[in-house]
Amino acid sequence: MSKLTVFDHPLIQHKLTIIRNKDVGTKEFREIVDEIASLMAYEVTRDLPVEDVVIETPVATTTQKTLAGKKLAIVPILRAGLGMVDGIMKLIPAARIGHIGMYRDEESLEPVEYFVKLPEDIDQREVLVVDPMLATGGSAVMAIDALKKRGATRIKLITLVSAPIGVETVQKTHSDVDIYTAGLDEKLNEHGYIIPGLGDAGDRLFGTH
Ligand code: URA
Repeated sequence: MSKLTVFDHPLIQHKLTIIRNKDVGTKEFREIVDEIASLMAYEVTRDLPVEDVVIETPVATTTQKTLAGKKLAIVPILRAGLGMVDGIMKLIPAARIGHIGMYRDEESLEPVEYFVKLPEDIDQREVLVVDPMLATGGSAVMAIDALKKRGATRIKLITLVSAPIGVETVQKTHSDVDIYTAGLDEKLNEHGYIIPGLGDAGDRLFGTH
């Protein structure tokens, strides 16, 4: 069974509470999602391997740690996932970016794939799939399917807010994919929104509705 990490860091919890508030406008929402994404990236990359490197400081030769050349890809699920990319890129600027386009059919609530563009060597990269809201889990499962079909083997899922059913669905379907989230909420409502959630993440990020 894959691991579920719910971040209890005070800064992450505080910032998530701010953006749950319906009165927070687009600019502040976007900025805070960016900040949370950076904080989450710091934790999600904790297990990256390091290796020794010999360097010269102004006063001595020393052996120190450096990242062991591990290749990463960040793959937002369009469109709300885009809101988390810059925050992660601040910490991992050399990561490649893939895109997976999904929309949710408003009636069936089922995800429909319409666009997949990934780095060519996706099979050699650790992949961070990002989507702010893990609701039914349908889009995440489909995005992970799309990645595995193209050779990706090491995949992590990063979300802001998750519903228990979404977590369960991903864990059942992709037991090798660890999930990282800032908030584990109660349930979905009849329209597929996470309760209490924060509303439609894409609309709140991009000022649409
Ligand atoms: N997608 C969102 O943007 N919000 C939800 O609450 C559920 C799915």
